[in-house]
Amino acid sequence: MEQFKVVILAAGEGTRMKSSLPKVLHKAAGRTLVEWVASSVEGISDKPVLIYGREGELLKGTLGEDRFTYVHQEQRLGTGHAVMTAREAVKDSEYTIVLAGDMPLIRKESINRLVEAIKNDRTFSCMLLTAIPEKTPAFGRIVRDKNGDVCDIIEDRDCTEEQKKIKELNISIYCFRTADLMEALDMLRPDNAQKEYYLTDTVRHLYSMGKKIGSISLDDPVESIGVNDRVQLAYASEKLRERINEDLMRNGVTLIDPKNTYIDCGVKIGRDTTVYPGVILEGMTDIGSETILYQGSRIRDSKVGDHTTIENSVLLSAEVGSYSKVGPNAYLRPGTKIGDHCRIGDFVETKNAVIGDGTKISHLTYVGDADLGEDINIGCGVVFVNFDGKEKHRIKVGDRAFIGCNTNLISPVEVGEGSYIAAGTTITKEVPADALAIGRSKQMVREGWAKGRYKIHRE
Ligand code: UD1
Ligand code: CA
Repeated sequence: MEQFKVVILAAGEGTRMKSSLPKVLHKAAGRTLVEWVASSVEGISDKPVLIYGREGELLKGTLGEDRFTYVHQEQRLGTGHAVMTAREAVKDSEYTIVLAGDMPLIRKESINRLVEAIKNDRTFSCMLLTAIPEKTPAFGRIVRDKNGDVCDIIEDRDCTEEQKKIKELNISIYCFRTADLMEALDMLRPDNAQKEYYLTDTVRHLYSMGKKIGSISLDDPVESIGVNDRVQLAYASEKLRERINEDLMRNGVTLIDPKNTYIDCGVKIGRDTTVYPGVILEGMTDIGSETILYQGSRIRDSKVGDHTTIENSVLLSAEVGSYSKVGPNAYLRPGTKIGDHCRIGDFVETKNAVIGDGTKISHLTYVGDADLGEDINIGCGVVFVNFDGKEKHRIKVGDRAFIGCNTNLISPVEVGEGSYIAAGTTITKEVPADALAIGRSKQMVREGWAKGRYKIHRE
């Protein structure tokens, strides 16, 4: 028998998000809400059971077929009803952990405390995670009997004035002995303000059956925050970013202004790297050590080496080596691979381009679909003409070539090692190694032609 099963409730409508996307697929700090929740229960059971209401295909497509056991709750008749739909999936486990899918701040440590509590005292039929925040939101209240034992949970809207004063709140995270949960689910009735099957009522039924219910409360009540609208989404994102940033700083990364630095969960950064304000690091990004990311760069799914500087640039699925300089205002598009000791300057765009060590492309240049060797110098305003209107072709440039300013290289073409292309040349044929290529019309001069042409009118 499997010891634990996890059920994540995610079938609610999420109406207040005003979104066509299911609520749990909204992202905070680069991860969907439900994946944050799932990360808090990682390793406790095999696949968690995910109860969903709509957009099943989208959920499976986004999260992966294998990640969860997906169970469809066709009619949303309440949290108790949601767990009923998971009966088959959990019935063979000893304990069932239930949690809401919209609580991205819940930490693994807190779930572990819940699990340990029930493992250490097997007499409990149900253990609740609760919160005692300073300000009481409209959460269910934990009601205790005269001995101080948990006997009920009353929803905010069903509370008496007296019950409203209770400070200990239900945060929607439970660990039930599965056999007892099954019995209590049978006893649920939709006899409340919302005409729903409340999961919270199982507590009362368990108590009436003489079962023991315990609670442990969160050290930090912020973990209990649920995301119901975009304001709460922004708040949760901010809190998650704080955690990510603190973690990085404690591991030797300097963030000049952490509040204005946006780093997704999963991004790696090496020691002694400095990140300036307004930098956005997304997806599977990996930044080396002693690198500087100056203001305003957006780097997604990219790898950057050590001792490199990047300023105000966009990198998308690109790679940059070590001791290189990128920007300001460079745009490195997918398939870009830049070596070590390179310089990619202002208004340079690259795409599907491999650029060897020591090569310099300092300004105003487009390099698309190309293989560049090492120690090449590309002048200002060079265009790799990779598209003939129908198809794209590659261009190859050998080591140490010098490409003069305002050169057009018409693909497909090869430029040999050590060759020299004069400024303003349009290359359409192969340039052999060590050759000079020059293709521009001869300059004509007419002495005195312009004399007296320019008149100065100044008041
Ligand atoms: C629930 C608790 C309340 C607690 C609060 C904490 C109940 C009756 N109340 O209230 O005590 O203080 O959470 O946030 O459980 N869901 C389904 N199917 C449904 C209904 C809901 O899957 O039919 C899911 C939702 O997607 C959500 C979770 O269950 O993830 C909680 O549902 P919600 O309606 O938000 O419950 P609350 O009213 O917030
Ligand atoms: Ca809620």
